[in-house]
Amino acid sequence: MQKGKILVTGGAGYIGSHTCVELVSAGYTPIIVDNFSNSEKFVIQNLEKLTVTRVEVEEGDCNDYFFLKDVFEKHREIKGVIHFAAFKAVGESSQYPLKYYHNNVQSTVNLLQVMDEFKLSNLVFSSSCTVYGQPDILPVTESSPVKPAESPYGRTKQICEDIISDFYKASEAFKAISLRYFNPIGAHPTGLIGELPLGVPNNLVPFITQTAAGVREQLTIFGDDYNTSDGTCIRDYIHVVDLAKAHIAALEKMIKSNKTKHLEVYNIGTGDGHSVLEVVKTFEKVSGEKLNYKIGARRSGDVEKVFADVSKAKDELGWKTELSLEDSLRDAWNWQQKLAEKAI
Ligand code: NAD
Ligand code: WQD
Repeated sequence: MQKGKILVTGGAGYIGSHTCVELVSAGYTPIIVDNFSNSEKFVIQNLEKLTVTRVEVEEGDCNDYFFLKDVFEKHREIKGVIHFAAFKAVGESSQYPLKYYHNNVQSTVNLLQVMDEFKLSNLVFSSSCTVYGQPDILPVTESSPVKPAESPYGRTKQICEDIISDFYKASEAFKAISLRYFNPIGAHPTGLIGELPLGVPNNLVPFITQTAAGVREQLTIFGDDYNTSDGTCIRDYIHVVDLAKAHIAALEKMIKSNKTKHLEVYNIGTGDGHSVLEVVKTFEKVSGEKLNYKIGARRSGDVEKVFADVSKAKDELGWKTELSLEDSLRDAWNWQQKLAEKAI
């Protein structure tokens, strides 16, 4: 049964593309809005292979209000919107803060404005555990304080959550859910879609897979003198397919709700913390590759430990993760090898 169209901004990107697959499996028709500023066109072809459907793409910039308006005009019967489109490089955001405020905040304002004009509801927003900084109590719950962000990127996520909340308070009928993702890793098990880091990866897992593949010489582990079991930092690494499924659960929660207004925030993680060394050792186990790594200095701005309390998402969305760290790293490695074969 066809359940209707869902507009997916940033749908050609890492998390967006995996979510489009899950939307199709759940009976929805994704309409991708993307300017391909951080994604490749081949992703759409691979998505079509994976879903055995034609995937509709509206190429353009969410900062372009008139473009967005035209998209909503064309697709009148949209059931909901998932807003992934944003820049996400934490370090770069300190170098070019205005680029980040412009792209991440302005696009969200535009989207809300157009949704308001078309009387559309049911927004899922991509937020991040970065809003918690270093929590005082672990696991971190949704009611834990949001701390002043370390980076302009983190601030754009806090600001967008606030903008959505203000808009919700002022509106008569608007439903939105912000999902605070922990650390998304892995790729689709088919190896057809995955993460495409531009240049030298900032994130741990793509750096590991590129090192194992010989693209990078050596992984540096940023510090082993933290107050953790092995001295390296702890994160909650979630398989991107599990994360993608959380978006369907969030959408359906809003679509099925009898309330005219709805606003919630959910942590989306596994609930388990793993250290950097554990990730390295698990990668070596699942890939059979010996990783060339060294211990280096701490990276400025890193939090020591963060992992989620996921009971709210489990109780209210009926969602929880199904895949393990092993699954994630195996799929990340499979994707890296497929990329190498295609020489992308
Ligand atoms: P990504 O860069 O792979 O995907 C983002 C997509 O949005 C890209 O296809 C890009 O071309 C597109 N885009 C960017 N600006 C646009 C604009 N103005 N108009 C149209 N398209 C635009 O990133 P991702 O990892 O898939 O992240 C998706 C979302 O999740 C982002 O909002 C990000 O901040 C958030 N998030 C990501 C992580 C992570 O570690 N990957 C963690 C927490 C939150
Ligand atoms: C994980 C761990 C590093 C690279 C970032 C953003 C956050 C969110 C997710 C978007 C840390 C260590 C890493 C390396 C290493 N994104 N590491 N060597 O820092 O938890 O979060 O991505 O919202 O906002 O800040 O993820 O993958 O960069 O790092 O030792 O070469 O791996 O120190 O402990 P992080 P990460």
